Amino acid sequence: MAHSGAEATSIAYKVFTFKDKKKKPEESLSVSIPEVLDPQYGMYVWPSAVVLAQYLWTYRDELRGKTVLELGAGVGLPGVVAASCGAAVILSDSSDKPSCLQNCRRSCDANGLQEVALVGLKWGEVSPDLVLLPRLDVILGSDVFYDPRDFEDVIVTVAFLLRKNPEAQFWTTYQLRSADWSIESLLHRWKLNCVEVELDQFDADGCNLAGSTLPGKHSIQMMIITQTTESGHS
Ligand SMILES: C[S@@+](CC[C@H](N)C(=O)[O-])C[C@H]1O[C@@H](n2cnc3c(N)ncnc32)[C@H](O)[C@@H]1O
Repeated sequence: MAHSGAEATSIAYKVFTFKDKKKKPEESLSVSIPEVLDPQYGMYVWPSAVVLAQYLWTYRDELRGKTVLELGAGVGLPGVVAASCGAAVILSDSSDKPSCLQNCRRSCDANGLQEVALVGLKWGEVSPDLVLLPRLDVILGSDVFYDPRDFEDVIVTVAFLLRKNPEAQFWTTYQLRSADWSIESLLHRWKLNCVEVELDQFDADGCNLAGSTLPGKHSIQMMIITQTTESGHS
């Protein structure tokens, strides 16, 4: 792919190739993700994003036709993979970070995904854009639990969306940065249920994933969060 002009000096494209050696070796997916040299976190692919993207690739048959929203998408690798697998995707990042939303658009353009919608959503804010979202099946969040000051805002947004979409699930991956950080009490407060997904269930337990060394030796975990029902279960 040719990229010209000033952009070429500041944007680097990372390619991720997902394969399915065990079940369907004939199938693979390559996506190209632009990263901009910029101090903002949302301009890079984070290790958790590769793990979440691998989960989406593994369960791609279930994604077709589903409506998927990614929160704090940054460069949007998981959302791009979901859209490439046939989901109707909405990528979001904070409404006060227009350059992240611009990078989301670049990611979509780089993969011929013009139909992906973009929306500014700031965690913890019940904005008109949040309220006006269509019915959702899956909400994605990779490395959105990276600053404990934001944990409750993320959970509030997720709880709001799951109340509006009681059948939906929040699929999230995060990097363990401190043993002291926990969202358990927040999940309880906002009446949410959480199930951990082991990475070896979807071949994401290695240091290399999708041709990338990003996961490396980071400790990454995955959870599926749903609404707690009256009986206390999801
Ligand atoms: C650590 S980065 C992860 C980016 C991407 N999900 C990934 O895993 O590669 C955190 C992301 O959350 C976004 N973010 C930070 N604060 C936010 C907020 N208050 N509301 C919405 N998004 C926010 C950042 O712009 C950034 O894209």
